[in-house]
Amino acid sequence: MKILIKKTTSASLKTPCLVLFATEGRAKPQFLTQLDEHIGSLISAAQHSREFNGRADETLLIHTGASSGPARILLAGLGKQANVSLDRLRQAASAAAAMLKQKNITRACVSPENIPIRKASSAQQAQAIAEGILLADYRYNRYLSADSDKNKPLEQIILLATDTKSIALLQQGVDTAEAICAGVHLARDLVNAPGNLKSPEFLAMQAVAMAEKNRIKAHLLDRTRMQDLGFGALLGVAQGSTRPPYLIVLEYQGDATGTAPLALVGKGVTFDTGGISLKPADKMDEMKMDMGGAATVIGTMLAAARLKLPVNLVAIVPAVENMPSGTAIRPGDILTSLSGKTIEVLNTDAEGRLILADALTYVKRYNPKVVIDLATLTGACIIALGNQAAAILGNDDKLIDRLLKAGQRSGERLWQLPLWEEYASQIKSDFADVKNTGGRPAGTITAAAFLQKFADQYNWAHLDIAGMAWEDKGKTGTPRGGTGFGVRLLIDYLRHEAGVV
Ligand code: BES
Ligand code: MN
Ligand code: ZN
Repeated sequence: MKILIKKTTSASLKTPCLVLFATEGRAKPQFLTQLDEHIGSLISAAQHSREFNGRADETLLIHTGASSGPARILLAGLGKQANVSLDRLRQAASAAAAMLKQKNITRACVSPENIPIRKASSAQQAQAIAEGILLADYRYNRYLSADSDKNKPLEQIILLATDTKSIALLQQGVDTAEAICAGVHLARDLVNAPGNLKSPEFLAMQAVAMAEKNRIKAHLLDRTRMQDLGFGALLGVAQGSTRPPYLIVLEYQGDATGTAPLALVGKGVTFDTGGISLKPADKMDEMKMDMGGAATVIGTMLAAARLKLPVNLVAIVPAVENMPSGTAIRPGDILTSLSGKTIEVLNTDAEGRLILADALTYVKRYNPKVVIDLATLTGACIIALGNQAAAILGNDDKLIDRLLKAGQRSGERLWQLPLWEEYASQIKSDFADVKNTGGRPAGTITAAAFLQKFADQYNWAHLDIAGMAWEDKGKTGTPRGGTGFGVRLLIDYLRHEAGVV
């Protein structure tokens, strides 16, 4: 899809469809009044009859019947004036794009007028609109033959500029949105890829290919190399699968050489059967998403490189497949991690924390300013927060605070859970330094308490995205499947760290 900018006034514009935003129960601004008069007061009629109220996510498509100007008007609701934010605007744009797709209208113009967000620049508004449209247009259709694919992608969206001087600003917003959404789309593609295709090697090759195209350094540690270095926890998880594990390392340099990097670590379990502690069959197919953290980290690296963010980044992805077999680890096995700490494996389904333990140890060699890990780590997180927020825990309140704020701005919300030291008593082992499960109570917290034992030497935050990496039904802006959750959040955080916004 192409998103273009053009300077024109709404009323005289010739287009298959003009998208307009409107808040709940407000008087129409001047340009809308003019347009409404031109099309015989159809917009007023829709409002008076309450067919369109301006509520969030509400849309209404009207044929103008006029011989000049737009052939259709698509109204998209922003909700109550007082609550309109960039996130709401993005969602309204998603709802509009979904309606266009449903009606097979592949070309449209969008007016960024009449959007009452104080404190937002026109670049930011254009970014929100473009993001909303791009995110809603995404489909994973590479396994659908042409005739079973009902989805027609949008072809062209034109963002209207009211004056010449705003063109550059709108373009800047659209460019930003395109870079970020490239990252989100890559993350979604990786999550949606089925487990037969998506081996650890496949994930590694995708990451390397992305890196090579975007001036990102990439290297891989293979099994032999990890054996030499002592990745006992990661290799323990990997030993049940015939497909070999990889540690994927990506380095993006946007700042001066020698400036300490920010590190991103992503859980990359390409399929989680549970291992010998086998999961139930019901919904096990969803466990192809257990590399959601890895996908987000790889997608974020792509977006950061496209945006040329002035920061140094290092990404570490431990990629393994968790399978039951004659060579798999057993409950009760004791593994020696890269840190030297020994781990009693009480449940082979608590594998994410094992591979992250070694990744979090390995990342120390980069002397990172901060380390942020993302992982579809615990079912307990879905019990606690459902599908509305990811959990955040860590050892650095300043970092957590900044991430919480980025979550509010981006709409990819986080909610902090406590990491009081008392929780660590649940993962004390009689036979090793630590055990990999802490029982049913506070499962998300005890998983983080486990990770903390390997992340105590730097500023660290952990995001449990178990409830957010996969969308089961499909919602505004997020079609069914992988969501790419966290890319927009991390980019928002990184742009603020870099002082770009
Ligand atoms: N990948 C799962 C967590 C998960 C569950 C993610 C559902 C997304 C949706 C993780 O590896 C796991 O199995 N965790 C166990 C830990 C338990 C054995 C301590 C869990 O949550 O049940
Ligand atoms: Mn598991
Ligand atoms: Zn898992």
